[in-house]
Amino acid sequence: MTEKSLAAGSLGGTSAHAQQRATRGLWSSRWVFFLAATGSAVGLGNIWKFPYITGQNGGGAFVLVYLACILLIGIPLLMAEVMIGRRGRQNPDGAVARLAREAGASTRWRVAGWLGGLTGFLILSFYLVVAGWALAYVPATFSGGFAGVSGEASGELFGALLASPLRLVVCATLVLAATMLIVGLGVRGGLERSLRFLMPGLFVLMLVLVVYAAIEGEFAQALQFLFVPDFSELTAKSVLIALGHAFFTLSLGCGAMMVYGSYLPEGTSIAKTSVLVALADTAVALLAGMAIFPLVFGNALEPGAGPGLIFVTLPIAFGQMPLGQVVGGLFFVMLVIAALTSAISLSEPSIAWLTERFGMSRLKAVLVSGGLLWLLSLGSVFSFNLWADYQLFGKTFFDTLDYLTTNWLMPLGGLGTVLFTGWVLKEATVREAIGLQRDGLFRAWWLLLRFGTPLGIVLVFLNLAGMI
Ligand code: TRP
Repeated sequence: MTEKSLAAGSLGGTSAHAQQRATRGLWSSRWVFFLAATGSAVGLGNIWKFPYITGQNGGGAFVLVYLACILLIGIPLLMAEVMIGRRGRQNPDGAVARLAREAGASTRWRVAGWLGGLTGFLILSFYLVVAGWALAYVPATFSGGFAGVSGEASGELFGALLASPLRLVVCATLVLAATMLIVGLGVRGGLERSLRFLMPGLFVLMLVLVVYAAIEGEFAQALQFLFVPDFSELTAKSVLIALGHAFFTLSLGCGAMMVYGSYLPEGTSIAKTSVLVALADTAVALLAGMAIFPLVFGNALEPGAGPGLIFVTLPIAFGQMPLGQVVGGLFFVMLVIAALTSAISLSEPSIAWLTERFGMSRLKAVLVSGGLLWLLSLGSVFSFNLWADYQLFGKTFFDTLDYLTTNWLMPLGGLGTVLFTGWVLKEATVREAIGLQRDGLFRAWWLLLRFGTPLGIVLVFLNLAGMI
C-alpha cells in the first residue's frame, strides 16, 4: 500500500488500521511493548555513560538535574513519540507526514522524522564500538584475566584494548552482525524472543553488583557523591550534558520510540507505559552508579576518568570477589545484550525508512545500512589509536559524533517532535490518540508539552550557543 492511497483513505479510521495490522506486525501484548521499549532505553547509556558523565560532572547536583530532565522533558516527549508512532503506524518520517496531512499542515514536518533516522544511524556507528569493548571483556573476564588486578593494571589492560584497531574492529563487526541479524529477522521473531529474559536478568545482576559494592567498597562515600547535591559543582555545560543524556537514555529525538509505538496495539495506556519505562531506565542507571562509585572510591580511582570508567573499575571487583570470573563474565554478557537491544532500536528507524520509503526488501535495507554503518564505525575505532591525533576543536571523530548527536541532533529532533505535537496537531486529535482518561492529567501533559518542554530545550540551546 502506498503512502498516498493511505492518505486518501479513511485516515485513522478502523479500516485503515485494520489493514495496517494485517501488513505490519504488532507487539503481542503491552508487556512485550514495555520490554522492548525498556530494552531500547536501557543500554550502554545507563551502565557505561551515566556513571562516567556523573563522575565528570561532580555527582549529586548533576544527578538531580538529570532526574528533573527525565521528569519534565523526557517523559512528556516519550509519550508524544509513542503516540505519533501509534497514530501514524509507519516509520517516523511517514508517520509524521501522515499526521501532518491529517491536520492539514505542511508535510515538511517530516524532517523531524528523517532527521531522527539519520541521528540514530550516526549514534549507532559509535555505539557499536563501545558495545564491542563490552564484548571483548566477556572472554577476558571468564578466563580469569582480571584475577587480583589492581586499579593501575586494570587501566593498562583497557588501554591495550583501545590501542589495538584490529581487536576493536573485530568486536564492533561482531556486534554489528548480531544487530543486523536480529533486525533482519523482523520485529516479532527477532526482538520478542530475546527480550523476555534479558531485562529481568540484567536487573538481578545489577542488584548483585550493588550488594557486593556495598559490602566491599566505600558505599557511604558513593551515596554521598551520588545523592547529596553540591551545586557549586554544577556548570552550564553540565546542565546541557544532563539534558542530552536524558534524551539519550530514553532513546528520544531519534524516532526510535516512534517506531516502537507504531507496533503498539490500540487500547494500551501510553502514559502508564511511558512512566514505567522511564522508571525502569532510571533505576538501572542509579543501580549502575551505586555499583561503580563504591569501587571507584574504594580503589582510589578517579571519578572523572572518562569513558573507560566501568571498564577499569568493575574488573577490579570481578578480580577480587568470590566467583568473580563467572559473575563478571555474566555481567559483560548482559551488557552486550543490553547494548544489542538498544542497537536494534537505533537501526529500526532507518531500516523501516529504507523499506517503506524506497520499497527496498528488508534484507537489502539491512545490507545497505549495515555496510554504511561498518564504514562509519571505523572512524570511531581509529579515534582511539591510528587517528587519535586528528582532532577537530579538540575532539576526536568519536567524541565529535557523540557530542553532535547527543547534544545537538537529539534535542533538535525532540524539539521538532514537541512543536509538531503541541502546536501543529489538533488538540482533539492528540487527546484521542494519547488516550489519557483523566482530564487533569491530559491538561498537565499538554501544557508541559506545549510550553515547558520546548522552552527547556531552547534554553539549553541558547546556553550552548553561549548567549546566556
Ligand atoms: N537509550 C539507549 C541507551 O541508553 C541508547 C539508544 C537506543 C538510543 N536507542 C536510541 C539513543 C535512540 C538515542 C536514540 O543506551
